[in-house]
Amino acid sequence: MRRKIVAGNWKMNKTVPEAVELSRRFRELFEADHLEVDVVLCPPFVHLVPVREVIEGSRIALGAQNLHWEERGAFTGEISAEMLLSSGCRFVIVGHSERRQYFGETDEVVNRKVRRALMSGLTPIVCVGETLDERKAGRTESVVERQVRGAFAGMGRDEIARTVIAYEPVWAIGTGVNATPEQAQEVQRFIRQLIEELAGRDVAAGLRIQYGGSVTPANARDLMSQPDVDGALVGGASLKADSFYEIVRAASLAS
Ligand code: PGA
Repeated sequence: MRRKIVAGNWKMNKTVPEAVELSRRFRELFEADHLEVDVVLCPPFVHLVPVREVIEGSRIALGAQNLHWEERGAFTGEISAEMLLSSGCRFVIVGHSERRQYFGETDEVVNRKVRRALMSGLTPIVCVGETLDERKAGRTESVVERQVRGAFAGMGRDEIARTVIAYEPVWAIGTGVNATPEQAQEVQRFIRQLIEELAGRDVAAGLRIQYGGSVTPANARDLMSQPDVDGALVGGASLKADSFYEIVRAASLAS
């Protein structure tokens, strides 16, 4: 049985004091219950250390939203895996569609970042998903297949096993239009089959695949009740402690 994993992607939101307050409120809510769900907060870089101080000693893990693929050096403005680790991160989001769309991240860049994350002992949350035009043109599977193969190119089964995948249809991100549970399941089953081909049946059976794109407390349980939906990557609804907590609860109820 795969344990559900819910991650909050705060994107470029909140000041440091607001981030501290949000994580404090979330910790209070989360600790009042004993939910069997893995939870990850992914705030902006400058919030990592202050948020870590709030969640230290709890079962809430810390993640970043991006990293650079090189170990260190003259890359002004970039952040390395080692910096993230030493800030308390265990996870890092890689290849989010906003990075692909606005910052030119290609499958090759995503591959390098996934490798670096794994080499450093961080768990990458690898994002894939089609645009609306691609879906309309019947290309959802071919696009997702290219992204998955690209992200894991040249990697062995042990490496693939140490990742989390997030299926995030671009048309569902921040739009209020979530994929239906059936649409999410269809693509996520396809991704699992692909992983089976790349890394074998055991790895595919154990790998967690999140759904992301307009997840709310209202739709979270139905989405995560699907057999191949092992959690959620949550943007907007993770910016409020109550709604994020409700989604974590939904994950526990869907388990
Ligand atoms: P959303 O974002 O929940 O606001 O749609 C999800 C994401 O981009 O990870």
